[in-house]
Amino acid sequence: MPMHVPVLLSEAVRYLITDPAGVYVDATLGGGGHAVAVLEQVEGEGRVIGMDCDPEAVERARRAPPALAPRFTAVRARFSEMEAALTALECSAVDGILADLGLSSIQLDEPSRGLSYDREGPLDMRLDPSRPETADALLARSDEATIAHWLSTYGELPRARAAARAIRRQREAHGALTSRLLRDAIEPLYRGPTRSRRLAQAFQALRVAVNDELGELRSLLDTAARVVRPGGTLVVIAYHSLEDRMVKHAFRPPRPLDAWVEPDPSLWVPLTPKPVRPGAEEIEENPRAGSARLRAARRAADVPPTPNREEA
Ligand SMILES: C[S@@+](CC[C@H](N)C(=O)[O-])C[C@H]1O[C@@H](n2cnc3c(N)ncnc32)[C@H](O)[C@@H]1O
Repeated sequence: MPMHVPVLLSEAVRYLITDPAGVYVDATLGGGGHAVAVLEQVEGEGRVIGMDCDPEAVERARRAPPALAPRFTAVRARFSEMEAALTALECSAVDGILADLGLSSIQLDEPSRGLSYDREGPLDMRLDPSRPETADALLARSDEATIAHWLSTYGELPRARAAARAIRRQREAHGALTSRLLRDAIEPLYRGPTRSRRLAQAFQALRVAVNDELGELRSLLDTAARVVRPGGTLVVIAYHSLEDRMVKHAFRPPRPLDAWVEPDPSLWVPLTPKPVRPGAEEIEENPRAGSARLRAARRAADVPPTPNREEA
């Protein structure tokens, strides 16, 4: 049975729940670990709306134990579709949103998704299979400079240009790429103890590009600014520095000259002056937690809701 061990579980739930009778969104259901822990804390009128862009995660959550079912709704939605999904549920404001970014171990370990350099499979990499383009298709139409930009920006991969060249050559030689062919293309560039890390960085970079993960995070931060009630919380667990920087920036305490910057920096009151990191014990039990950084913020009570960008 594939498993995902939830990261920073008690910390996430503690920051998220301000009112046990509130409405909470778990924006990244994954294996359902966080959602179940939140459900265990809500009572009375409280409910949990679970979302994920991956229909398999939503299906899994719908099969959750019946005891949890009355307070739980699972919906397939990307962050950029969250507001529409909430509207469809006639829910215009929520007490908290939790987003545990990236991918689950279940997705990573599934060879047919091509997300792991350790598993042989087609180079798909979509977390949401309704996205039009797989990683292989994206690489097929992208030039070396663009691929190098992704590798260096989204993966912070050294020697990104050389890696991009190797990927282009591999595609020209083999046609459609698999995860094994991608690994074979870049592995010779990175010898020594950092080799596994470099492979992980390269795979991460392409996954971020395929799934527009930074654009999606931007949508999440914008949507949260509109739908979280004053006094409610946004909790985000990030796994790489670009994401964490975006969250940190959105949660920054107000500075007088920032009034024109979007999102309104005075909207959130940070609850975590520094990101919360897993302890050594959690990392030992779950090495995938190693890079996790949790930030939480409370929606300020005296700020009017941010207008929808389209309406503004
Ligand atoms: C780290 S896992 C979440 C694990 C979950 N918290 C648990 O306890 O099992 C991240 C999940 O977020 C989903 N995801 C990633 N980007 C998304 C997006 N833009 N919109 C919705 N879900 C997304 C992935 O499909 C994956 O299932």
